[in-house]
Amino acid sequence: MAEQPMFRRVAIIGLGLIGGSFAAALRAQGLAATVVAGSRSARTLEQGLALGLIDEGSQDLALAVRGADLVFVSTPVSAMETVLTKLAPGLSERALITDGGSVKAAVIDQARRALGAHFTRFVPGHPIAGKEKSGVEAADADLYRHHRVILTPVADTDPDAARRVSELWTALGAEVLSMAPDHHDQVLAETSHLPHLLAFSLVDTLARQGDSTEIFRYAAGGFRDFTRIADSDPVMWHDIFRENRGAVLDALGMFRDGIDRFRRAIEDNDSDALMGIMTRANSARAHFMAMNARTSYTQARRSDDETGMTQHSDPTFVVAPGGRLHGRLRVPGDKSMSHRAIMLASLARGSTEISGFLEGEDALATLQAFRDMGVVIEGPHNGRVLVHGVGLHGLKAPGKPLYMGNSGTSMRLLTGLLAGQAFDTELTGDASLSKRPMERVARPLRDMGAVIETGEGGRPPVRIRGGAALKGIHYHLPMASAQVKSAVLLAGLYAEGETSVTEPAPTRDHTERMLNGFGYPVARDGATASLSGGGELRGGQLDVPADISSAAFFLVGASIAEGAEVTLPHVGVNPTRTGVIDILRLMGADIRLENQRDAGGEPVADLVVKSAPLKGIVIPEELVPLAIDELPAVFIAAACAEGETVLRGAEELRVKESDRIQVMADGLATLGVEHEVYEDGIRIVGGAYGGGEVESHGDHRIAMSFAMAALRASAPITIHHCANVATSFPGFAELARSAGLALDVRAPQESQ
Ligand code: S3P
Repeated sequence: MAEQPMFRRVAIIGLGLIGGSFAAALRAQGLAATVVAGSRSARTLEQGLALGLIDEGSQDLALAVRGADLVFVSTPVSAMETVLTKLAPGLSERALITDGGSVKAAVIDQARRALGAHFTRFVPGHPIAGKEKSGVEAADADLYRHHRVILTPVADTDPDAARRVSELWTALGAEVLSMAPDHHDQVLAETSHLPHLLAFSLVDTLARQGDSTEIFRYAAGGFRDFTRIADSDPVMWHDIFRENRGAVLDALGMFRDGIDRFRRAIEDNDSDALMGIMTRANSARAHFMAMNARTSYTQARRSDDETGMTQHSDPTFVVAPGGRLHGRLRVPGDKSMSHRAIMLASLARGSTEISGFLEGEDALATLQAFRDMGVVIEGPHNGRVLVHGVGLHGLKAPGKPLYMGNSGTSMRLLTGLLAGQAFDTELTGDASLSKRPMERVARPLRDMGAVIETGEGGRPPVRIRGGAALKGIHYHLPMASAQVKSAVLLAGLYAEGETSVTEPAPTRDHTERMLNGFGYPVARDGATASLSGGGELRGGQLDVPADISSAAFFLVGASIAEGAEVTLPHVGVNPTRTGVIDILRLMGADIRLENQRDAGGEPVADLVVKSAPLKGIVIPEELVPLAIDELPAVFIAAACAEGETVLRGAEELRVKESDRIQVMADGLATLGVEHEVYEDGIRIVGGAYGGGEVESHGDHRIAMSFAMAALRASAPITIHHCANVATSFPGFAELARSAGLALDVRAPQESQ
């Protein structure tokens, strides 16, 4: 037997594009047994019947809604009160009412007056969808699919009514959001009403000029693109501008300030200010597009390029078993160095040209933060970035909290750097970053005099009070952490006297090396690095080598895949990062460093790796901090090795982008790899293993490690939630595929 439709009788009042598409979508989804329309226009009702959108029509609105269990009102906002007053007498007691008006506070006032006691069953709504075409003949059953619908229930809206309306829109394929009505009106004024106003105004302004035909004849793409929305319905926009008067005027005021800033920059020949406006706008737009498409920055850019590639919001990797790896694979730039390059170049005097910059989301979050603090940054284009440094004291207060995405390095290093600024800041992050410990940086910085608050349980958000006078300290790191070391040293740039940090075991020293490269002396004495505040950084050239942490997946992959040989050119081989090479070699891997050279203070080499039989080892604890990010990949090598591999002293793995000990153990269990979990490590018994569904918990390195595991699996491995691979390794799937991994990227639902 067919299921009961969601509604018995739906009345649609106003059968234009919005109402007609609503009817078409209800029909397509089989959500209403009967669809009735109410409209003043007999012709519209006839068209609705002829198009098969409705079963019945009536010009009497009270009659149209009689017996309906859902009423959708889609009339111009200015007519709402009249329409609701007319239909109210026909409403049955249990009828739900919702609307499609694009202004909410005014509609709610009108509905309250017109509907009386029935107001509690009214759920104000706004589907953010439309076309330039209007009228019922443009009705489209897919108009709302993958679009947002904002519901703005108020305190006396019946929660059950709100829930049912929300379920309906979801069933029509829309994404439902809930917002306060005033907030809705403000957001819409800024993002929709203002652009329409500007488009109308620009066309009108030019048309008023003497010989406007001449202007329009030469009008090029820019004019056409900018004014496309001036084709929209004047009556509807007339209503919107009037009904949302306050919020539209506020938005216009804000825009006038922006235009004045632009004007001043041109008048004053201020090219820094001009570039600042445009580079910020460029990146903000890429960011909006990415958020809209719910994809990464990099993906948004790629789909703009019309590469024709399908982009998936949080893709699943499906990797077929077997395959060989071969070829010359250039992996992207080093993440740690890319962060530091942006930070130090921003604080330097003069400009810095960075090449090899990692265009992954983590490093882009750092880049965006400095743009938000007024630094003009051109690019990135193919790994090239030009940073116009502002000097140690040239950063400006950002207008909003700085969003660090998934990036712990951005948040921890910036906490140190911002502790010394004259202005307040707040740092926020995504769900994973919001669970990570921040007191480890806040504590020593407070000892220096910084005023820092962390959120619940010492986690983000981090709030930093500006204007604190910092003094140098000597800090003994309680854990081997390059991020904490770097945060203290960066605060030390602003502190009085000497700041020094002693580490319990060597950790990556890119901050120290790069500061020296920018002409800021950092001394090293055994396990202690120190610097004095009050110096100056000087901009220049900076080459970021390929990231050994990204190369690590191929070091492991080529070691375990039969008959593999891979060359990874220009990889950073700083001795504080090469633990993974040492560990894999101890296991029997065949890895050669060729063409070793120095690139701007950092050693680099081409890595050549061939498949080799691996054996289990006890991983020397001193190598753990030197291979900390590569250990998930090492777990896969261990699963393929003969005998058992034991890792201890790696408790830091539990506070990375995920609890990497547990998440890796869960995945290994799925594949059938024997193992034992310790608080600070794991024991893995190598041998043959199968496939299965692995959860990456949005952790990039977990996802890429299990992708490599497929090279030796006996069945496919499916890895969920792989979007964050773009944080450190944009293009991983393509590169891995080109090397011979049978990796398929799928939309989340396809693989289930
Ligand atoms: C990093 C330091 C390490 C590492 C992270 C990058 C850095 O973190 O895991 O991916 O760039 O300083 P910890 O300092 O927490 O060990």
